[in-house]
Amino acid sequence: MKALVLSGGKGTRLRPLTHTLAKQLVPVANQPILGYVMNHLMEAGIRETGVIVAPETQEEVRGYLGDGRNWGIEISYIIQDRPLGLAHAVKTARDYLAGDDFVMYLGDNLLGSGISEAVERFEDSRAECMIFLKEVEDPRAFGVAELDGDGNIVRLVEKPKVPPSNLALVGVYIFSPVIHGAIDSIRPSWRGELEITDAIQALMDSGHQVTGEILDSWWLDTGKKDDFLAANTTVLDEYTCRRIDGQVDQDSTVEGRVEVASGATVVRSTIRGPVVIGEGARVENSFVGPFSSIGRRTCIKDSVVEHVVILEESEIEGVVRLEDSLIGRNATVRKPGGLKGSLRLMIGDHSTVEI
Ligand code: TTP
Repeated sequence: MKALVLSGGKGTRLRPLTHTLAKQLVPVANQPILGYVMNHLMEAGIRETGVIVAPETQEEVRGYLGDGRNWGIEISYIIQDRPLGLAHAVKTARDYLAGDDFVMYLGDNLLGSGISEAVERFEDSRAECMIFLKEVEDPRAFGVAELDGDGNIVRLVEKPKVPPSNLALVGVYIFSPVIHGAIDSIRPSWRGELEITDAIQALMDSGHQVTGEILDSWWLDTGKKDDFLAANTTVLDEYTCRRIDGQVDQDSTVEGRVEVASGATVVRSTIRGPVVIGEGARVENSFVGPFSSIGRRTCIKDSVVEHVVILEESEIEGVVRLEDSLIGRNATVRKPGGLKGSLRLMIGDHSTVEI
């Protein structure tokens, strides 16, 4: 069993962050999303993985994953010149995948549990495809699967007005090589993409078995700012342990599950977990409230922040309360004296400021 991790695409919904950072590398609780994906592949015993990359972001994806030795996985990079759809990505990787079964994992999806048992179930079954599904409250915004009584999928519908079930397609699939023929039989959709759902429908129409794997744990698509903050909150809640490797001075209080990475300093401040503070960050004369991730070498001074994700090397100074916010790399939010209520801003493209 190989894996194919999709780390191309445009990431339009998470702009402006994704103007300069691959969406799959945006950190959740200070770890890039791709790190969680690789952990799941490693746990499932997968030793060879193809990673689909876009020409624009391939360097940084390679920079993070390298040759895969951190996960004991041999990585091959496959360039997809344009994001022409999930089935197009599989087609691009056909030589690499050869005659093997493979897990296809979308590189911007976070699952609360691993995929080991599902991989075993697929290998023991006679199915040609397994699709991970999750019960959602409002399935109208998702791809939705209709199942028969035996757990086999009989139909897939994209964003249905009248959903046949509340089971949405999560971004993880397992395929046998039969999928390649099905991809050859489909045409691009109205949005010009080769859709994997059309290829799977073609598999079912030609009598192949397609099963559903319903997730019990959470599943998070990190597409937009609020989804992203929700993902950060869930992951911090689930995984953060108390671990203080950095320096905390005597005038500071650190309450609950807080990680202070090595080289980070906390001075005259209160930190209330779950919170992660990255390597070399500095928190001074401030309060950092629950569900906050503070990136490497970021500095927070004379401020109150809560439920925020602040990426690397940014600076927050004199801000009385910053909440529910997502701040990129090398950004500055500062309240200088003497402005008498006026604002002075330099904001990049596709940014939002709520005052
Ligand atoms: P999407 O989230 O559907 O697409 P996107 O990355 O272009 O994002 P947005 O909607 O914000 O513009 O893609 C799901 C995952 O699959 C994501 O990790 C990118 C990846 N992908 C590819 O690698 N190649 C492709 O052709 C497509 C469509 C997506």
